[in-house]
Amino acid sequence: QWGAFMPGVPDLTEFPHKKFGRIVSSLWRNPSPDLLTYAYGGGLPALREALAQHLALTRSIDCDPEQIIITEGSHQAIDLTTRILGEAGETAWVEDPGYWGARTILQANGLHTVHLPVDEEGMRVPDAVGTPPRFIFVTPSHQYPLGPVMSLTRRRQLLAVARQCGSWIIEDDYDSEFRFSGRPIASLLGLEPDAPVIYMGTFSKTLYPGLRVGYLVLPKPLTAAFQAAHAELYREGHLMTHAALATFIAEGHYAAHIRRMRMLYGRRRAMLVNLIERRLGPEWLHRDASMAGLHLVLTMPPDMDDLRVVEVARGKGVLTRALSRYYVNPEGRRPGLLLGYACVPEHDIARKFEVLLESLAEVARKPAAA
Ligand SMILES: Cc1ncc(COP(=O)(O)O)c(C=O)c1O
Repeated sequence: QWGAFMPGVPDLTEFPHKKFGRIVSSLWRNPSPDLLTYAYGGGLPALREALAQHLALTRSIDCDPEQIIITEGSHQAIDLTTRILGEAGETAWVEDPGYWGARTILQANGLHTVHLPVDEEGMRVPDAVGTPPRFIFVTPSHQYPLGPVMSLTRRRQLLAVARQCGSWIIEDDYDSEFRFSGRPIASLLGLEPDAPVIYMGTFSKTLYPGLRVGYLVLPKPLTAAFQAAHAELYREGHLMTHAALATFIAEGHYAAHIRRMRMLYGRRRAMLVNLIERRLGPEWLHRDASMAGLHLVLTMPPDMDDLRVVEVARGKGVLTRALSRYYVNPEGRRPGLLLGYACVPEHDIARKFEVLLESLAEVARKPAAA
């Protein structure tokens, strides 16, 4: 689950464990009993306050700490949202290709998923809506996995459809902290007052996935119901972790770590792009992707079997994911590889890329499995 070129994973060796450890140790020196009990009201107030300030500065999100619910990552956040606001049999629009995790949870909660294609402006909103969707799940800041940023026109169109249909947009803002060029992109939530948007963020990409901390930013009228359901459904805890994170953010370590990682990942991305352009050609880079995130998409000739490339590369110690697996509708499906660059040290990128080239060549020579 970690190493060249695993997509979506930060460099775990760079996590400032000494700073975080110092904060954790000082909390454990004299633990407040309040922090050792169940969580209440959507997570520790200090963490929700620190996050509200952080989101105001970085994502133009104007919210009260009470509108934030701390979750055990995005999966729990999607589960909670669909259980509270959805009914089995209702419809949810998702991106195709899209994030398998969201699709799985929506379907597990009985929702009927409709898979909408993605172009250079993000999810394509259909001309004829059909059954009004209860949920619209999108990754507008950096479409997962292809990478385009949703255009302003598309954002307005999506908000208009959601208002008209009484839908909730679930905005998955999973890695927008890492943009390597251009201005930061404002969230959908911040675009219009009273937008029917439930915003979702995570520490999995900025710190480490095993931390299992994410958050929701909710419209005010929904907060009480979410707080109660969150406590009753999942019996939350981890307040010591919340307290440590709150201090980590409030003392500026979180913003500093993100800044440092942005520089590092930007350099690694540039190295990988350069290798692809030189060794394969610019046509192998997915053209709609923005300069952001922890992975890029390597496109392939349409008749190439990306699943086999993944298998062959794995046998040689290089991890990737096949783009074709992220599609549901066979019509739009195309082969490619998701290449994560964040967790590959610079000195290793060229060597690991050679292994990938060998794997591509091997599959090109022997197209079908014997
Ligand atoms: C599109 C997308 N959203 C969210 C997440 C984060 O999920 P979690 O917060 O549950 O770790 C991921 C992680 O892979 C992702 O790819």
